[in-house]
Amino acid sequence: MNHYRLLRRSLAKRLAGQGVVHLAGGKPVARNFDVEYAFRQNSDFLYVTGVEEPGCHLVLDGSREILLVPRVDAHHRVWEGNVPGPSEAKKLFGVDKVMYADELKKALRGRRPVAASKLRDALDELRAVKTEGELALMRRANAVSGEAHAAVMRATRPGMKEYELQAIFDSACVKRGLKHLAYPSIVAAGVNGAVLHYRKNDAALRSGDLLLIDAGAELGGYAADITRTFPINGKFTRRQRDVYSVVLEAQKKCIARARPGIISADLHVYSMRVIAEGLKDLGFLKGDVDGLVEGGAVRLFYPHGLTHMLGLDVHDVMGGKRRVLPNPTKVPVRFVAKLEPGFVITMEPGVYFIEALLKDPVLRRKHKDSVDFAKADSFLDFGGIRIEDDIVVRDGPAENLTRVPKEIDAVEAACAR
Ligand code: GLY
Ligand code: MN
Ligand code: MN
Repeated sequence: MNHYRLLRRSLAKRLAGQGVVHLAGGKPVARNFDVEYAFRQNSDFLYVTGVEEPGCHLVLDGSREILLVPRVDAHHRVWEGNVPGPSEAKKLFGVDKVMYADELKKALRGRRPVAASKLRDALDELRAVKTEGELALMRRANAVSGEAHAAVMRATRPGMKEYELQAIFDSACVKRGLKHLAYPSIVAAGVNGAVLHYRKNDAALRSGDLLLIDAGAELGGYAADITRTFPINGKFTRRQRDVYSVVLEAQKKCIARARPGIISADLHVYSMRVIAEGLKDLGFLKGDVDGLVEGGAVRLFYPHGLTHMLGLDVHDVMGGKRRVLPNPTKVPVRFVAKLEPGFVITMEPGVYFIEALLKDPVLRRKHKDSVDFAKADSFLDFGGIRIEDDIVVRDGPAENLTRVPKEIDAVEAACAR
């Protein structure tokens, strides 16, 4: 049974007796007059069909699967080329029946559709646990994105612009057949690395600074989400090495602990502890580690989550209502679920020197006994370090989909010229 049919069957089974499943695919969005934004299929629709064309519908009625495709005219064929008609679409997408989108009423036969909230929850539950078919796509999206990251490391030179590296990343993915990125690339040199969602990507690269690149392509809609941080001139300085080692240690320890049954929020707190200990050793933080984590001092340097689900969306479904747990920790965390085999999640600790946090008078007062602000201030030209891999939770050790160099020697070798 093909990959998508298997997923349609799972969805139909999960909602059996609750009505007809109707999923509308995405529609093109006008940018102006007769120009459209690049079309990206709705993720739920892609999940159960693999159809990347706009204007389609899917109806699952018991075991009957109907795909509805737009009826196109000669004018459309002149400008846009051919789109698969019913008999071709039936073969291509492996459904029982294909109708035209304007026949939706007929396809629904006056039957009651499943309530939107039930359909949402079923999709959230199913999409959380990836099948081997989905994992094969994610492995490939990661392999290609990884090669693109390596190409960026090799090509980076002082004096280049951030957007040149962005272009190298994009080109390496497109050349390998992955024409779409999973999210806008963050290519951040020096202090820009401390802007968590930096997207300008237009600054010049300076020797002695770090380059943080968070970029990933998608395949069949399945995302890779990878971050690497490396020295622009190919050699880490002492202080870069020190901070990098703290982040790397946190990331590797968290990957080793990512097993079924672990609550994602607990893993996040664990990463905060490892980072707090590391920053204490380096002299940025003072005092007891529990206090640094629960009191929030470590969040001045590590203000984001450790992990999120990854799949057809870069910040993917969180597993449905059944899986959402109350946060068992004393720190705010968005993603709280017990890890299960087949979850694909990111592992992305970071340390940043963010002026907006470190210079905030309220935070400085609050954390004056926990943070050496004079030392932190001397790092305000540093930027930030994040290391992000994508892993599959397995019954044994997690499978790491990301193979981009991250050990200090390996990163320097990958940057060698
Ligand atoms: N690239 C977005 C994230 O890391 O979550
Ligand atoms: Mn991420
Ligand atoms: Mn990322």
